[in-house]
Amino acid sequence: TNYDFGLVGLGVMGRNFILNVADNNFSAFGYDLSVAQVEALKVEAGDMKNVNATTDVNTFVQALATPRKIMLLVPAGKIVDHAIENLLPLLDKGDIIIDGGNSFFTDTDRREAYLKEKGIHFFGSGVSGGAEGARNGPSIMPGGDKEAYAHVKPIFEAVAAKYKGEPCVAYLGPKSAGNYVKMVHNGIEYAMMQLTSEIYDLLKKSCDLSNEELHQVYDTWNKGRLQSFLVEITAEIFAQKDELTDADLIDMILDKAKQKGTGKWTSQNAMDLGIPVPTIDMAVSMREISALKDERVQADQLYSRPEVAHIAKEQLISQAEQALYFSFIIAYTQGLHQLSYASKEYGYDLDLSTIAKIWRAGCIIRAGLLADIAEAYTTDNKLPNLLLSPSFAPKIQGTLLAVREVVGFASKNGIPVPGLSSALSYFDAYTSSKLPLNLIQAQRDHFGSHTYERTDQNGIFHTEWGKE
Ligand code: 6PG
Repeated sequence: TNYDFGLVGLGVMGRNFILNVADNNFSAFGYDLSVAQVEALKVEAGDMKNVNATTDVNTFVQALATPRKIMLLVPAGKIVDHAIENLLPLLDKGDIIIDGGNSFFTDTDRREAYLKEKGIHFFGSGVSGGAEGARNGPSIMPGGDKEAYAHVKPIFEAVAAKYKGEPCVAYLGPKSAGNYVKMVHNGIEYAMMQLTSEIYDLLKKSCDLSNEELHQVYDTWNKGRLQSFLVEITAEIFAQKDELTDADLIDMILDKAKQKGTGKWTSQNAMDLGIPVPTIDMAVSMREISALKDERVQADQLYSRPEVAHIAKEQLISQAEQALYFSFIIAYTQGLHQLSYASKEYGYDLDLSTIAKIWRAGCIIRAGLLADIAEAYTTDNKLPNLLLSPSFAPKIQGTLLAVREVVGFASKNGIPVPGLSSALSYFDAYTSSKLPLNLIQAQRDHFGSHTYERTDQNGIFHTEWGKE
């Protein structure tokens, strides 16, 4: 009895997380219905004395010190509700349940309200970093009751990834704030993955770069301002040999991307908020287009595409680096912009510099760039959009020539770069003091008397179009 921490769901993530907790000198008890998972944990724990597990829910709950701190690492959806119902009759007032999965934020709000009535604190707490992160230090994004967080804080701060000694976890806000932030993290993740793959396509098609050269390019980039987890693993991917053939593994992988929904939720909710995140939208659309392989193969035969012009490697690699840097900035810009509006809409009261800080290590979107982003929001925590940051303007300005070249080259040569071009169009539109949408207003008023505003005086106007 008197274990410090409980964990429900002993899949790979759960086992790694619980071992991480135990490594940090907290005693931890795991629970899973599957004997195999419980056994797997016991094997992995070896002779560690402070970790144990059971398939019996009573034993599990009785083993924990109160207030109990129980983390769920189970698939999002109904399973979370089942796990809660399973525990509920055995819990005491003041106990804490933490959902570490990618739950949809409104589900978290519902669960939090339901459990509050029963005197149980509920935390929706995104965990990022995959299996490796769970074991050695993830980025953790908790939201819920602020006072109850004090009980969880020492454990989370110990197990979280560290950026220059600072733990990549912080209390983010009430209710579903943590799940919401994790959802947007994933939207940014989708965008960065899409952008990384477009640049790969461009380098491969226009310069015939071999996988070895691609490995070198991404590896070099990872040592510069593009330093990031996704660029790092991309370099590693190009160096991986296939086990079944003598090819490189990347060339044997089918080009159909799967998704579990978090990117789509980010886009859907951005639409609800009225905040544009076109590069995230495009990343979701591209996974969808990729899935339509049979149709793509058919369509490919109907149309001819331009012969790709070959250009000087050095020049293209340098321009591609700038394009990737620019578009990574835009991916974060859109996600953070969404967070700043969601914060008001849902009463999360988010601090964007804290969020950028806890993303600097442990999570999938960790990158050198996030230190600069954290600083921009520390300087001005009311910044509505990163493009308005005086410290970012010169960084972005310096890449624009290359970005335009790359997008122009790609479109002329029939190489799809929808993520990158959406990032550029977003930038060009957001930084235009004048857009042609006066015409849309005129059309709306013309066909539907929807009225318009004028540039020279206040008020609402309507015209009988076509009449003198
Ligand atoms: C993380 C990831 C993770 C997510 C996967 C898969 O931060 O560790 O975001 O939570 O589940 O990336 O997402 P898709 O299957 O939708 O690509």
